[in-house]
Amino acid sequence: MNKDNRVVKRESFQSSFGLIAAAIGSAVGLGNIWRFPYMVGVNGGAAFLIVYLFFVVIIGIPIMLGEFIIGREAKKDAVGSYKTLAPKEKWYISGILGVLAAFLILAFYSVVGGWTLEYLFSAILNKFQGQSVAQIGEGFSAFISDPIRPVFWQLVIMLITTYIVANGVEDGIEKYSKVLMPLLLIIVVILDIRAVTLTGGGAGLEFLFKPDFSKLKAQGILDALGHSFFSLSLGMGIMVTYGSYMKEKENLGATALKVGIADTVVALLAGIAIFPAVFAFGISPDEGAGLVFVTLPNVFLQMPGGYIFSILFFALLFLATLTSTISILEAVTAYVIEKFNMERKKAAIRTAILITLLGIIASLSNGPLSHRLIRGMNLFDFLDYLTANYFLTMSALISSIFIGWRLDKKIIEKQLTNDGRLQIRYIRLLSFILKFIAPIAIIIVFLTGIGIIKL
Ligand code: TRP
Repeated sequence: MNKDNRVVKRESFQSSFGLIAAAIGSAVGLGNIWRFPYMVGVNGGAAFLIVYLFFVVIIGIPIMLGEFIIGREAKKDAVGSYKTLAPKEKWYISGILGVLAAFLILAFYSVVGGWTLEYLFSAILNKFQGQSVAQIGEGFSAFISDPIRPVFWQLVIMLITTYIVANGVEDGIEKYSKVLMPLLLIIVVILDIRAVTLTGGGAGLEFLFKPDFSKLKAQGILDALGHSFFSLSLGMGIMVTYGSYMKEKENLGATALKVGIADTVVALLAGIAIFPAVFAFGISPDEGAGLVFVTLPNVFLQMPGGYIFSILFFALLFLATLTSTISILEAVTAYVIEKFNMERKKAAIRTAILITLLGIIASLSNGPLSHRLIRGMNLFDFLDYLTANYFLTMSALISSIFIGWRLDKKIIEKQLTNDGRLQIRYIRLLSFILKFIAPIAIIIVFLTGIGIIKL
């Protein structure tokens, strides 16, 4: 498709592999490698993991499928899709919440993306060589509270992301995602092998896989729900937007399942790489947002070839981050294009500038602005908490009610079976989940998590 008829015909992904790679590229990112271990650590380990897995299967994957259905049926962005399918009704609020969430998420996500670049360069310069566990930890704190360096890297990542999104989905996302994800997976597996063979690493595996439910609080359950949406890229209209790019012959259910499985496998592998090392080096598992950055350099120091692996790892982590930042900026940009009838380049650039401004404040909130607290959190932590636990869950709630109760069953059937060409046996089950299970579970978990219901 050339640039001129792009205006007339909606872009679409060229191959099924490219499509799945792009969706996985969106799902797999810092959420799996940075946020998942940090959430597991803060919430006490295996019990959190089990609840998380439960939510992925019973709520996350069905909602992802629902988002695909909405997108491919309406062929619009997150907000436009709801308006097309239910004109004059307010369901598109789910899309607006999603676009807003995308905006806020990218502001802090790009900060962490910047950290991966700093670590990539530290790896190249062999800066961790000879440092003790404590020194590596102190180095991280000093870096994130620096007023300049994290902001500089954040600008770099926002520039690259904007460049790719401004040039369109087809030449951008698809091309970059295809090769990078498999490579990242290989490196993480190598890290796993090193981590589980560390002396004292067994305690980490126990922490990750042996549940102690007394450690799990209501807040942890809400964190698990919020993180399942965050990690699967749900509740932001991203999968709606991707669904709108999917061809008619694609099997939506199979795609959602593959994306869900891939995302979960990467998170688990990341956990297996982190926790044995956390325990072997005496790092505290509830360290928070710094966990991965403080732990992994120590693992590389203990590896033959650690120098090369550390470079490869941070390079790939950066690229995995990029495929996610692209998808997040794309969600906002697609909305701005359609809403204001703006040209793609202009829309991408303007959106990115606003996000970057907020992002800089978020980065500074780890340093010079750390005394400014919102509900006891700095801006960085607050954005992280607010978006996953409030915005994504609310947006996902509305979309599951929409698909379960409002959307014509015939549309669901048509989209799942590709107009009768596929034999699909789970249509009833999916409807039941989206109608009852998902909304009720989300409401209960949410109200419990914010303390309105006491268990
Ligand atoms: N899922 C990505 C990750 O795990 C982050 C992300 C990309 C995201 N797109 C999203 C999160 C949409 C929520 C919604 O890193």
